[in-house]
Amino acid sequence: MTFSPDSNIETPSSPIEQVFALSAPDMKLVDACIFASLKSEVALINQIANYIVSSGGKRLRPMLLTLCAHACGYGGQSHIPLAAIIEFIHTATLLHDDVVDESDLRRGQQSAHAVWGNAASVLVGDFLYSRSFQMMVGLDSMRVMEVLADTTNTIAEGEVQQLLNMGDPEVDQQRYMQVIENKTAKLFEAACRLAAIISEKPVEIENALAIYGNRLGAAFQITDDVLDYNGNAETMGKNAGDDLAEGKPTLPLIIARQRCSQKERELLDAAISNGGVEDLDSILLIIRDTDSLDAAMAIAKTQASEASQAIQTLPSSQWRNALEQLADYSVGRDH
Ligand code: IPE
Ligand code: IPE
Ligand code: MG
Ligand code: MG
Ligand code: MG
Repeated sequence: MTFSPDSNIETPSSPIEQVFALSAPDMKLVDACIFASLKSEVALINQIANYIVSSGGKRLRPMLLTLCAHACGYGGQSHIPLAAIIEFIHTATLLHDDVVDESDLRRGQQSAHAVWGNAASVLVGDFLYSRSFQMMVGLDSMRVMEVLADTTNTIAEGEVQQLLNMGDPEVDQQRYMQVIENKTAKLFEAACRLAAIISEKPVEIENALAIYGNRLGAAFQITDDVLDYNGNAETMGKNAGDDLAEGKPTLPLIIARQRCSQKERELLDAAISNGGVEDLDSILLIIRDTDSLDAAMAIAKTQASEASQAIQTLPSSQWRNALEQLADYSVGRDH
């Protein structure tokens, strides 16, 4: 928050800051629910879970759920624990993801596996997953259970599909989209769909919000994959370059490979096949010369605008406006 130097009058905040302010009362309750639900009798679980949950994170998925609930005119209280459940599932995937990706920095600090080891990180991820299912039972809704059971299952499939794509230069845009759809977009989709379900909205509204979440999630992951090439570790709170180091064929590389010369393609293929960042500088040059980051962002922006388009059937409100802002934010962010 910024203040003018000689008065206490706040300078007008940016549209996205206004969205954060709008969701702040709910997000305070979500955070309280998160911390109240973390408790375990096993000290190491509390330690690791608190370590990752307290280190921040954007809380974007729970924010989307609460805003979508208001956009649906929801008047109950279940959106708060449901938002906490979504954040637990997300946090569990991060604990697992950093082991799988061998990433040592998360949310501006050493990742959990770098401090406590892979086994502890995976097991506490399992604790968070199963805690989220305990909390779901408390909501006593078969429909909610169904959506979240399907979603977590799909995330696991997406991560395994990505594992199979690793080191394979032949991975094309379609196979890439399939992975990000499953590993990332599905959870965004669930967050938004569930808001309509608890609000008992008709299926058209449920589907509109599901499409919104899905497209926003895809846009968000493409942006993440671009930031892995041009982002700043300090701003992002995680290291750039991890994807190439692993030989992960993400959209910037896939586009560069389509646009470059035969000789350059041989270099890209070798980097994808073998992983490692020895040829990072030459690869960055190829990506730059082929405008691949801009091309990837153009695809992300199309997805983000499809997200906003999908919710035009909802009545106009400050909540719908906030959701449109978040679609823009998902592709305009630097972390
Ligand atoms: C990181 O998600 C994983 C991806 C799907 C790219 P976020 O960027 O939402 O992570 P936090 O919660 O803000 O740390
Ligand atoms: C995250 O993808 C996907 C998950 C569902 C966890 P990334 O592996 O690109 O996420 P970061 O960059 O490590 O946050
Ligand atoms: Mg990762
Ligand atoms: Mg990963
Ligand atoms: Mg990433």
